[in-house]
Amino acid sequence: MMEDPVRVILVGAGIRGDIYGHWVSEHPDRARVVAVADPDPDRRADAAHLHGLAEADTATDWREFAAGPRRADVAIITTQDVEHVAPAVAFAEAGYDILLEKPIAPTERECRQVVDAVRHNKIVFGVCHVLRYAPYTKALRDLLAAGRIGEIVSVDHIEPVGFAHYAHSYVRGNWRRAETSAPMLLAKSGHDLDWLRFVVGRQVRTVSSFGGLKLFRPEHRPAGAADRCTDCALQQTCAYSAVRIYQDHLAAGDLHWPLRVLTPRPDAESVAEALRTGPYGRCVWACDNDVVDHQVVALEFDGGATATFTMTAFTTSRPRQTHLFGTLGEIYCDGTRIRVTDFRTRRTETLDVEVPVSPDDPLLSGHVGGDAGLMDAFITAVATRDTGWIGTTADEALAAHHLVFAAEQSRREGRTVTIG
Ligand SMILES: NC(=O)c1ccc[n+]([C@@H]2O[C@H](COP(=O)([O-])OP(=O)(O)OC[C@H]3O[C@@H](n4cnc5c(N)ncnc54)[C@H](O)[C@@H]3O)[C@@H](O)[C@H]2O)c1
Repeated sequence: MMEDPVRVILVGAGIRGDIYGHWVSEHPDRARVVAVADPDPDRRADAAHLHGLAEADTATDWREFAAGPRRADVAIITTQDVEHVAPAVAFAEAGYDILLEKPIAPTERECRQVVDAVRHNKIVFGVCHVLRYAPYTKALRDLLAAGRIGEIVSVDHIEPVGFAHYAHSYVRGNWRRAETSAPMLLAKSGHDLDWLRFVVGRQVRTVSSFGGLKLFRPEHRPAGAADRCTDCALQQTCAYSAVRIYQDHLAAGDLHWPLRVLTPRPDAESVAEALRTGPYGRCVWACDNDVVDHQVVALEFDGGATATFTMTAFTTSRPRQTHLFGTLGEIYCDGTRIRVTDFRTRRTETLDVEVPVSPDDPLLSGHVGGDAGLMDAFITAVATRDTGWIGTTADEALAAHHLVFAAEQSRREGRTVTIG
């Protein structure tokens, strides 16, 4: 271990930057945020306050730090999807180790550009595929490695996005249009395809996918709906009413996500104002969204195992659910419990793998413990110069992205795609 804490530059102090920043502030012996870049004055000020930074340690643009004298070991890059490539390449060229939010980039060419820069500069590189680092993933992989269900034959994996989350991020929000962010499968489910490869432990041979935008189209707008939920007569009965969705979070005292996306300091007044005037108050049938609201992906792995993946907006909010079917047993897991049935003994065992939410800092339990697990692994890798802690290489991350692009190609072109 390095004696001094790993020095971190936060590139982007938005929702994700704040979560990783909180992990750092909770582990001062292991890491320290020494600089923050964000053009948003409130977010920059909040991060500076949390990390005790002087004005000189803040910037409105990451370029100021990438170009200036080296001031940290690591850049944690949490800008929006289309703003990943430029900072990732620049900080890699400047010799910083990098933790990059997923997706690496919205196109395959740009993903390769980032990975080339990583390879060329021999930096420690992590992609925030946080599900890999959730404690339940480790427990699941241990069971599989111990042969508890024999050889995996098929897998059924569901990502229940949640109707309110979908309306927030993918109809009204930052990921609503593929051309300004990324296709839904890359933006939301790149994780899942990476995770399936990780859990099955084999390369994918062929992929096919179907999906579309079923509901959130202007033609489904109910009679009498207004352009803004604050003006709408259907406000109390519409499942997707922004007033109801954000009031639920206010009422629960849950002031981080998604309310901080609407306004930097959420309270009843600032949220009401955001709903009256901002993008998050729009009727879900009067937005400029185009990403899919449901998609299935079918995968065939080397060796013949198969998997299906379903992403759907039309669920309540809950963790992913996975069924694994093996030659000697089956496993069901939902991020909090793992149920293993052994065909030989006819017995079923249930393991509790729930990560309790910290009352002091609920942000640290995000992605069923995956956010904290990722930070722990990445900071250890940097401190020890042992990339084994990250558990995945830049090439593996690239392969997972390649799979997503192939699945999207299959969906768009209506054909099965063989992975090269
Ligand atoms: N790993 C996961 O599970 C997960 C979950 C959600 C989002 N994400 C990804 O994380 C990334 C960030 O998402 P978010 O919700 O935090 O977004 P966000 O919009 O809240 O944060 C992005 C921040 O980057 C800042 N920024 C813009 N230009 C900048 C510049 N030139 N220099 C420095 N900062 C700049 C913005 O002002 C903003 O505060 C996205 O790529 C998203 O897809 C990953």
